[in-house]
Amino acid sequence: MPDAVRHELRFILNSEVVHLNDVAPTLTLLDYLRLQKRLTGTKEGCAEGDCGACTVLVGRLGPKGLVYETVNACIRFVGSLDACHVVTVEHLADLNGNLHPIQQAMVDFHGSQCGFCTPGIVMSLYGLWLETPNADAARVEKTLQGNLCRCTGYDAILNAAEAMAGSDNSGDKLVVTHEAITQKLSELRDGSRVEIDTPSGKTIVPGSVDDLAEILEAYPKATVVAGSTDVGLWVTKHMHDIAPAVFIGNLVELQTISEDESGITLGAGVTYTDAFDAISRGIPTMGDLWDRIGGEQVRNMGTVGGNIANGSPIGDTPPPLIALGAELTLQKGATTRTIALEDFFIDYGKQDRAPGEFVRSVFIPKLPAGDTFAVYKISKRRDEDISAVCGAFRARLADDGTVEDARIAFGGMAATPKRAKAVEQALVGNAWNEATVDQAMAAFEQDFTPLTDWRASAEYRMLSTKNLLKRFYLETQGQAVQVVRHEKSLAEV
Ligand SMILES: Cc1cc2nc3c(=O)[nH]c(=O)nc-3n(C[C@H](O)[C@H](O)[C@H](O)COP(=O)(O)OP(=O)(O)OC[C@H]3O[C@@H](n4cnc5c(N)ncnc54)[C@H](O)[C@@H]3O)c2cc1C
Ligand code: FES
Ligand code: FES
Repeated sequence: MPDAVRHELRFILNSEVVHLNDVAPTLTLLDYLRLQKRLTGTKEGCAEGDCGACTVLVGRLGPKGLVYETVNACIRFVGSLDACHVVTVEHLADLNGNLHPIQQAMVDFHGSQCGFCTPGIVMSLYGLWLETPNADAARVEKTLQGNLCRCTGYDAILNAAEAMAGSDNSGDKLVVTHEAITQKLSELRDGSRVEIDTPSGKTIVPGSVDDLAEILEAYPKATVVAGSTDVGLWVTKHMHDIAPAVFIGNLVELQTISEDESGITLGAGVTYTDAFDAISRGIPTMGDLWDRIGGEQVRNMGTVGGNIANGSPIGDTPPPLIALGAELTLQKGATTRTIALEDFFIDYGKQDRAPGEFVRSVFIPKLPAGDTFAVYKISKRRDEDISAVCGAFRARLADDGTVEDARIAFGGMAATPKRAKAVEQALVGNAWNEATVDQAMAAFEQDFTPLTDWRASAEYRMLSTKNLLKRFYLETQGQAVQVVRHEKSLAEV
């Protein structure tokens, strides 16, 4: 048992410290705000993390101190908020009811019509302005990937954001209170385990990673919840019971990122946002993929550990990580073991993870000098969409121009993320030229028998997979490949 067990969650909501002793594992932040606190400025659009109408800021104490990030309240559970600061749109106006400059800019530039998306958009722009007050247009667009507006058209919203660019944020409420909130959150984070029993099951927040290991030994069937960008939808869309739920988002020990000569190690709790710098430094060709995972809110919550542990055949990180030769470290009790990531995925819905075992970290080896690496995501929309196919290619050429080594992995082509070993074999030892590539393309038929579903037909998947190898080849020849974007839906192809 840990030193102390607390039976209430404590966090700050706008200016109020909240103590809750009846937190059901499935209670979402959105329901809590709207139904219990009557803070109805935060809207519900899709309840699946897609539209951004429910965007709020959550301040958390991480390795870099107190950081405020936008999150989707609809798929964020209250159980994950211990020692956090939740900021809703109601916190923005000043005591005299004057609009926040960002709200005023949205009014001045006609950035709102029906207004349903507006609080979410304001919170996204507010989060950006706190982090980067002089953001350029590209950064603003990236920030709004996860905010859908049906009426205004984005120009007016972008104009409002542009008007804010470069303005001084030093007098802003959250900047002024930064130290005091940091102090308060540090007091709230007392290292105890939180355990709350409710009629709908247990909510548990471990006090440390050792405590997590102990909890999972005691409750091997518990649902581990990291960023909840998958688990949230099990609840809001499929009404699943996730009790007992163990919320690990607070564990700073799981949020470490280390980089050395051999590669990058990401703790299982590292979010996409936190990993971005290390990933784009270490493997520059991965940066584009990273920016296409979810929207900003999803990247602020979702973890690479969760993407792997979920075991989905269409998760975006396993194909590139398998192609790079990543290794996964798992922990059960006090025992850890490390396996090749590709061996973790056994079959659809089946991973090499024992009851009570959890993902501790993933190691991504540095790309050896001379190796070429690329990853391509094919989806119906560019932004905020799940892959129909995601393919990663790594190749090394010998001095005589033949392929010395090739590692190719795909998502969306089988029941698990999987290597294309027949294609690899067709390449290795042969000259790296168009004839070899054309022959190797046919070998995808031996590696994969894809399915038809609403993301893409089997034929489309197979054709685009083959073409991606060709694209990789052409890019290694210095030919920029122009990607033609079809308006036609993939299902029609
Ligand atoms: C709007 C939206 C867009 C999305 N877009 C993409 C996309 O473009 N590409 C993509 O790949 N995914 C996408 N996703 C899916 C999701 O964001 C990712 O799979 C994400 O990485 C999951 O991480 P998480 O921390 O939120 O996991 P959670 O939802 O918390 O957990 C996912 C699974 O992993 C388990 N788990 C989590 N951490 C651990 C651990 N340390 N040890 C053991 N088990 C663990 C959980 O029990 C659960 O089974 C999207 C989701 C949403 C809502
Ligand atoms: S309600 Fe649509 S993202 Fe939350
Ligand atoms: S103003 Fe109506 S959805 Fe954006």
